[in-house]
Amino acid sequence: MTNQDLIARDLNVLWHPCTQMKDTQQLPPIPMRRGEGVWLEDFDGNRYIDAVSSWWVNIFGHANPAINARIKTQLDTIEHVMLAGFTHEPAVELAERLVDITPPGLDKVFYADNGSAAVEVALKMSFHYWRNTGHGEKTRFINLSNSYHGETLGALAVGDVSLYKKTYEPLLLKPLTARSPDCFHREPGMSWEEHSRLVFADMEALLAEHAHETCAVIVEPLLQCAGHMRMYHPVYLELLREACDRYNVHLIADEIATGFGRTGTLFACEQAGDNGITPDFMCLSKGITAGYLPMSVAMTTNEIYDAFYDEYENLTAFLHSHSYTGNPLACAAALATLDEFAARDQINANRVLSERMAQATAPLADHPNVAEVRQTGMVLAIEMVKNKASRTPFDWRERRGLRVYRHGLTRQSLLRPLGDTIYFMPPYVISPEQIDHLAEVAAEGIDHAVST
Ligand SMILES: Cc1ncc(COP(=O)(O)O)c(C=O)c1O
Repeated sequence: MTNQDLIARDLNVLWHPCTQMKDTQQLPPIPMRRGEGVWLEDFDGNRYIDAVSSWWVNIFGHANPAINARIKTQLDTIEHVMLAGFTHEPAVELAERLVDITPPGLDKVFYADNGSAAVEVALKMSFHYWRNTGHGEKTRFINLSNSYHGETLGALAVGDVSLYKKTYEPLLLKPLTARSPDCFHREPGMSWEEHSRLVFADMEALLAEHAHETCAVIVEPLLQCAGHMRMYHPVYLELLREACDRYNVHLIADEIATGFGRTGTLFACEQAGDNGITPDFMCLSKGITAGYLPMSVAMTTNEIYDAFYDEYENLTAFLHSHSYTGNPLACAAALATLDEFAARDQINANRVLSERMAQATAPLADHPNVAEVRQTGMVLAIEMVKNKASRTPFDWRERRGLRVYRHGLTRQSLLRPLGDTIYFMPPYVISPEQIDHLAEVAAEGIDHAVST
């Protein structure tokens, strides 16, 4: 089989996610034959470093032997059983371990099967909590501009990336939107902390006016990934936690992309204040199974759980479900993932890798078409612009980022950008030399993309 064989069959029957299918005339999907570590290999034998962790899910490389082995063992034990009325050991053990490693107070785990679904669960649970406790007037949510929480209607509604959301507006809940603390927009000379503090005034004002009708504030802690990898200072989370308590509003931390070490700590919420913050809900997915199987969780507190615990006749139960909730194979992958974190002391090991990412890309900060090179932990983003001084972006229709992507493919690198933002969010098994290679390819790609 060659790439061409599979492409022809693919285009006959498949409709790909997040893709204008007409683009495939110039850029057909690349058929992947196998993966190993950071490498993906196609049917023609070309190899690519998976610099974006296959949409931010892969953590310990493709075909990781330890995770493979755990799933295979699980497969011979029980592949799936519904979680209503039944339970199984991997689901229980994983929940116990998640309670142990997440911020203190998140003591209950509700399983779902993808990131958007976990966000739906948190939104519904928050609303339902207030209803169960006599606050039916709380029906709204506050989000941040430039946020992203998924594609199902509830998750899309609390996001703010127009490219994905605008078409569906007539179908969506209407959140109240506070200005994002995104530090790309800070005044010259201002620190990330000063900017994030300053912008918090907008959130404070919204809460002051709308807390009585608001269920929860939802944020992506520290890093707005789909919103072009924009970043902010942990002080914002500290201020937000304190304000949510003061205004009697829940805080939902969507750590679907930021969780499992991406921001430099196991969870981004740990970086707020001296001891971190505990949100009322934490949504996790993506890295939870190291990119192996679909799984997500919405974690919450005993206080919230208790508001649903009642006689059946009172109809206060959370009657939400997905068929694959708590799938044992996915739980086994997640347990193996947690073992890998411990065995490799990965959070500490990542410090060396993130430092290398900073060093390797440092020269790009002086590039005439780079407005900013920014980094939070294991995520590094390069903002390509038309005019460096004014930070004017290129016309989006020119699709310059796509040129960087195409260049990367010719140089063994899968660097799928977000618009004109080129970024690295690699599996943690990447080597320092591979990071250097990605930086070199990104620099070449940017030169090429801005040349005409
Ligand atoms: C912060 C965040 N929340 C939610 C989601 C949605 O997850 P999924 O694509 O699994 O539905 C994503 C996906 O990129 C995300 O980055």
